[in-house]
Formats: sequence, C-alpha cells, structure tokens
Amino acid sequence: RTVYVNGEYLPEGEATVSIFDRGFLMADGVYEVTSVLGGKLIDFAGHAKRLERSLNELDMTYPPEFDDLLEIHRELVTRNGIEDGLIYLQVTRGSDGDRDFAFPDAETTRPTVVLFTQSKPGLANSPQADKGLKIISIDDVRWGRRDIKTVQLLYPSMGKMMAKAAGCDDAWMIEDGFVTEGTSNNAYIVKGGKIITRQLSNDILHGITRAAVLRFAREAQMEVEERSFTIDEAKEADEAFVTSASAFVMPVVEIDGDSLGGGTPGPVAKRLREIYLDESL
Ligand code: PDD
Repeated sequence: RTVYVNGEYLPEGEATVSIFDRGFLMADGVYEVTSVLGGKLIDFAGHAKRLERSLNELDMTYPPEFDDLLEIHRELVTRNGIEDGLIYLQVTRGSDGDRDFAFPDAETTRPTVVLFTQSKPGLANSPQADKGLKIISIDDVRWGRRDIKTVQLLYPSMGKMMAKAAGCDDAWMIEDGFVTEGTSNNAYIVKGGKIITRQLSNDILHGITRAAVLRFAREAQMEVEERSFTIDEAKEADEAFVTSASAFVMPVVEIDGDSLGGGTPGPVAKRLREIYLDESL
C-alpha cells in the first residue's frame, strides 16, 4: 500500500512520524474518513469543509488547500487501485521536539498530515445491511466538543468492546437519558413514518452522511424532526438506524435486548439506504 505523509507518497513500511508528535502524545489532532465507491470519492467537499472547521476550532493552521487535498485523495485511490473502500486523513499538530501541555509555536511547527487507504470490496453490499445491527446503550462520558472530529477515540473504542462483550455490534451513547450518537455514527429512530434524529450542537459530530440523508429524505417528502430522543423512546420506535461515511445507512434491529420492528430492518431505513447509495454513485 502506498500512503501519504507530509507531502510524500511512500510504501507504508517506510512512512514515519516523530514520537514527539502531539497526535501521538496528546491525541492533539483531527481526522476524516471518506468512502470510495466504484473508484469515486463520496461527499469529498463535505469532508474537506468539516476538516477545515475542526482545525479552526483547535487553532491549527489548515495545511493543504482543498484542491491539493482532493488531488492527494485521488492519487491514493489510483495508486492503490481502490474500487470500494475508505480514505483516512489525519492532521495532527506536529511537535517542536518536546512534550509540553502548551501548544508549540504555530509559526514554526508544521502539522503532520497522513493519509492511507483501506480497500473494502463490496462496501455498499454489506450483508450487515440485511441483518441490521444489535446495539447496547452506554453512558456518554466523552468531552463536550464532540462536534470537532478529534482522534480521541478511546471511549468509542471501549464502547465497541462493551458491545462485543454483550454479543452486540455497536453502542449508542446516552447523556441525561437522551441518545447523543453511536460510537462512530449518528443515531436515528422512526415513528409513524417520521425520521427523528438529534439536533446539531457541540454534543454530536455533524455527520456528512447525516446532512446528505436528511436532504434526500426531505426531497423524497419524508418527514424529518431534529430533536433529542430518549433511549426509552428509541426502544419503542418502529425502527432505528445509523449513518456514517463507512456504513452509509445501516438499520438497527435491537436495542439493549429489545427487538425493533420484529427484529428485521425497517422500510424507512432500507429506502434511505437505497436512495443514499443511488444518489452517491
Ligand atoms: N466516524 N458520529 C461519530 C462519533 C463519528 O465518529 C462519525 C464518523 C459519525 C458520522 O459522520 P460521517 O457521516 O461524517 O461519517 C458520527 C467515522 C466514519 C470513523 O470514525 O470511522
């Protein structure tokens, strides 16, 4: 696999980053995941825009220009022959060669930019979409700026492990009784044909897939309500689903052991998945 590190394309075994990099020492960095279907980047502009916002929120200078970033993405897709898969992009604050809580001088410290690809043949035809996800609910103990896509992913990773230990696929996180989002996706329920998903704020990531799916839903005259919902309301919903760049629209069929819609994916989630994939291809 060819990867990209700070302006260079290298075989993955030759790519290196300093041990003092603040991404490594302090999770001081942000990332994006863009999917590739049929060799085509999905929603690249949205991901680039959110990256710029995340960097701004953390007072990091935006390293490559939009066009350069697009070029790097395309180059990696070509070099690695990616038909279906993901491109991971990470920008960390870099380092001035020491460890310090204060940020190093932005004038003299170059951010570290890393990109790599993950090939996932048949990404859009995942058998999981026919089965649906079983999820558990867990406390949301993350920090308060979940709108910034930082690489602090330890708690979401632990959430995945808690789900696995319970024989499930993923976890939804709960704050004050309300669902914030999934470990790596946005959460939705459907009641009486209405699609309900938490309103945007600093409490959740502003999903790029979420924005597209809500737009397509409204265009298809489906009713959308952006508001918080409790885990109890979710368990009584007609159906549920999640969205992300890697899962697109993925039905949820069980929450904390309670089946939804008879334990099979619901019609709204199925339809939205079809629309999303149709529009993206
Ligand atoms: N995760 N919420 C969280 C906490 C996420 O980590 C993600 C994405 C989303 C969905 O955002 P988008 O639609 O822009 O992918 C919501 C990526 C896929 C990941 O960490 O791999």
